[in-house]
This record gives sequence, C-alpha cells and structure tokens, in this order.
Amino acid sequence: MAVNLAVVGATGAVGTEFMTVLAERNFPIKNLKLLASARSAGKTIEFKGEKFTVEELTKDSFKGVEIALFSAGGSTSKEFAPAAAAAGAVVVDNSSAFRMTDDVPLVVPEVNPEAVKNHKGIIANPNCSTIIMNVPIFPLYRKNRIKRLVVSTYQAVSGAGAWGLWELDEQMRAYVNGQPIQKKKFPHQIVNNVFSHNSSILDNGYNEEENKMVKETRKIFGDAKIAITATCVRVPVPRAHCESINAEFESPITPEEVKQILASAPGVKIVDCPETSHFPMPLEASHQDDVFVGRIRQDISLEDGRGIDMFVAGDQLRKGAATNAVQIAELLLK
Ligand code: A2P
Repeated sequence: MAVNLAVVGATGAVGTEFMTVLAERNFPIKNLKLLASARSAGKTIEFKGEKFTVEELTKDSFKGVEIALFSAGGSTSKEFAPAAAAAGAVVVDNSSAFRMTDDVPLVVPEVNPEAVKNHKGIIANPNCSTIIMNVPIFPLYRKNRIKRLVVSTYQAVSGAGAWGLWELDEQMRAYVNGQPIQKKKFPHQIVNNVFSHNSSILDNGYNEEENKMVKETRKIFGDAKIAITATCVRVPVPRAHCESINAEFESPITPEEVKQILASAPGVKIVDCPETSHFPMPLEASHQDDVFVGRIRQDISLEDGRGIDMFVAGDQLRKGAATNAVQIAELLLK
C-alpha cells in the first residue's frame, strides 16, 4: 500500500540520505512532500528521476500526509511534529525531542520492533551512536544478559549535520595550502585533532551524547538496570562512527560464541581478520547499512570469562539515522 510521505529537513545531511534510502528500498510512495526552512523553499531535489520542489515547513504542511520523516533538529520537531500528528500523520522523528517521552516508542527494528504498535502519533528514532551500539549488542544480550557496557566512540563530523562535513573539508584544504585554519561551528579545530563530543556537559559530568547512549539503550532494551558508561569523542572522519565496546555478561562467554551469534544477527557484518589486520573501519562502513564488528576478544581483566571487547563501525547517516527511520516506516506499513 503506497502512502503520502513527507520528509522534513529534506535538504540536510540526513534528509539527503532519506531520499537515497527510500529510493533504494523502493518505499511505496503515493505523494512525496519535501519540506525545509524558508531558505530552501523553491529548490529542487531529484528523486527516482523526478524533480520535486522543496516547500517551506509550516503547521499546515501535513494535510493528507500519512507518514512524516523528521530530521530538522530538536526545536523544529518540538514545534511541528505535534501538528503533523494532529493532522493524522505518524511522525518518525530523528531528533532527541521526544525520545525519552513515556508514550513515544524509541525503536531499533532489530531490537524492539513491537514497540512501534504503541505509538500515539510520534515514534522516535534513537541517537546514532546508540543505534550502532545496540545492533550488535542486543543479540548477545538476549542470549546472555549483559550487566555492564563500557563504550568509547570515535564520531564522524557529518553526525553534526552537513555543516560538519564542510568544516572538515575547508580546514583540510586550508591545512594542505598552508593557510590559517578557521573554525566556524565546531568549538575546536577538527583537522589534525580529536575532541570531546561537541554537546553540552550535564550536571553529572557526562556530555549529552554520552547521556543519550545510557538512557536510550535502557529504554530500547526495556532494562532499567543495565549499567552503561560512555565517552563520546569527535574525530576528523567524514562519515561513519566507530565505537570500542566492552561488555560484561552475567555468565561466561567466549569470542567464538560471540562470533557465532553475530554471524546470523540482522544488520551485523563481522570484519575480523587478525592475519591481515582487517577490522572495522569508517571508510568501509560508509554508505553501508550493516554495523561492522571486529576485534572480538576475551576481556582479560575479568578472569572468569564474562567479559568481551569489540570494535564496531557503522554509518551514522544510514543505519544511525535514515535507514533506521525508513525501517520504522516499513514496520508501520505492515
Ligand atoms: P535548510 O536547508 O532550509 O536550512 P543538517 O542536519 O544537515 O544541518 O540539516 C538540517 C535540515 O533541517 C535542513 O534540511 C534544514 O533546512 C532543516 N531545518 C533547519 N531548521 C529548520 C526550520 N526551522 N524549519 C524547517 N526546516 C529546518
């Protein structure tokens, strides 16, 4: 059954990815509406060989819309998603605006697809780092409960939006040409540098990104007790986030068992070749939907064999955002 679909934030980094993923998956669309700010009204975007004109987002944009994919920032979602839902659309929102709201399902289709049914007009798409961790961790958790996760991220600049890519590009060009490096939106120089994730530091000392990984994973897994600690860092990589993950299980588990479980886990690709030192890399994970998993090894700090270390890479614009949202929309069609 084809639906009337709106894409809010169609000109942005995730919005652009929505168009690619919708076309690739042949999502059944009756009418397509592309919405962005007044700055972009009148621009055209090609979708499946046809040109569509971008319209300015207003509260009246959603008449007749059945599904609305939002990726235009939290304040835009807060202002316009309720209007879209009131007009009868189901909103799949990529921002953090409603993720922790009680009656808003927070969904990773490989983990909790059934939660989609409980929506009241808005479904939240989780944070990109959360999704990339959840996809390989949940199938392990289901076999052998994980008590504690320790994660460190290496996050690509495009996670900040299309401007993150431009800023890295500009700074790389300036560096190569021996010109002064200017920072515009990131708080620090990103080329030749690494810095703590550019989200605000909260009262508990964690930044917002770290806090999201902890709280959202608990909500998605339906496990308020799982202990999680995170350190989130921005690296000068255009696309695809990496994460070093340490998991402490309730019972002993071997790297071989982990590989066996992950070999058939949806959305996971094992890249783990010590002979050629071939492990997950952002360059290879870019433009892919699978989360790449490797460096799977026993954590030698836990002598009873309950610890596993791994390194993962996932495209945060695809599985971490657009693909996950389109998968949620596909669940709505069922
Ligand atoms: P625009 O291109 O017109 O500014 P990114 O995450 O890559 O920064 O993209 C953000 C997306 O959200 C863009 O499509 C942007 O449109 C859109 N956007 C930002 N603010 C608004 C707003 N107030 N109303 C509608 N769309 C917005």
